[in-house]
Amino acid sequence: MLKRITGLFNRQKVTEDENKLLQSIDRNRLPNHIAIIMDGNGRWAQRRGMPRSLGHRAGVESLRSIVQLCSELGIKVLTCYAFSTENWKRPQEEVSFLMNLLVEYLDKELEELHSNGVKINAIGRLAELPQPAREALDRAFRKTENNSGLLLNLALNYGGRREITDAVVKIARLVKDNRLEINEINESLIKEHLYTAGMPDPDLLVRPSGDFRISNFLLWQLAYTEFWLSDVMWPDFKRIHLLQAILEFQCRERRFGGLIKK
Ligand code: FPP
Repeated sequence: MLKRITGLFNRQKVTEDENKLLQSIDRNRLPNHIAIIMDGNGRWAQRRGMPRSLGHRAGVESLRSIVQLCSELGIKVLTCYAFSTENWKRPQEEVSFLMNLLVEYLDKELEELHSNGVKINAIGRLAELPQPAREALDRAFRKTENNSGLLLNLALNYGGRREITDAVVKIARLVKDNRLEINEINESLIKEHLYTAGMPDPDLLVRPSGDFRISNFLLWQLAYTEFWLSDVMWPDFKRIHLLQAILEFQCRERRFGGLIKK
C-alpha cells in the first residue's frame, strides 16, 4: 500500500507527520464517500491583503492535493462544493474568475487525473454554466468516462434545495405520464432522481474555515453523514488535515438512529 501512497502523481515527499497518520488509518474502514465544502478562500486572501481571486487560486492547490490523496488512498467518491446556486450573487468579476479557474483546472489537470484513473463528474444545473465551462466539463467527462478509480464529483451551480426540487419535478412528470404510481414513490426512488443517483451517501463531510453550516449542500444525502469541522481556511487545508479527519471518522460510533450491539 505504501507504494500506492508514495504514488503515481507528481508531488512532494510524504512528511513524517503524514506518515504517522497514514500508518494509524485503518485501510479497511475508509469512508467510501467524502464531501468537502471548500470554504475560506476569500478570507484567506483578504487576511493577506490580497484580492479574493488569489484565495480561489490557492484553493485550487488544496483541491489538487486532496484529490490526489483520496485517489491514492482508494476513496471511492469525493464531492467538492465549488460553486453554489447562490454564488451567482457575487460580483460578476469574481464569478467570471471562478468559471475561468474551473476551465483552467480541468484543462491543466486532465491528463494527470486520467492517467491516475480518476473519473470526473459534476453535479448541479450544468446547463446554466457558461459555454467554456460546459465544454471543458464535457471534455473531462468524455476522457475519463471509463475510468474506475476515484469518482471526483464537482458540485457546480449546485444547490441542495434545487436538486430536490428537480427530483420532485422529474417524479411528478412520470406520474403525470402514467409511468409511475403515487404509491411507488419512496426514499430509494427519490434518491435515484437526485444528481447523485447511483452514488453512496457521503460518510464524512469536511468543512474548513470555521463556519458551522451546511450551506445548501447535499441536503438529502447528509442525513447520517459524520461532520468534521476545522478553523483552517481551505487554501491552508493540507493532506494532513484530511488524514486527521479520516482518523477521527474512524473513531466515531455510527448508529444511523439504531443501537450498537455491545
Ligand atoms: C468558498 O470560499 C469557495 C468558493 C465559492 C469557491 C471554491 C473554489 C475553489 C476552492 C477553487 C477550485 C474551484 C474550481 C472551480 C476548480 P469563499 O470565497 O466563500 O470564502 P470566504 O467565505 O472566506 O469569503
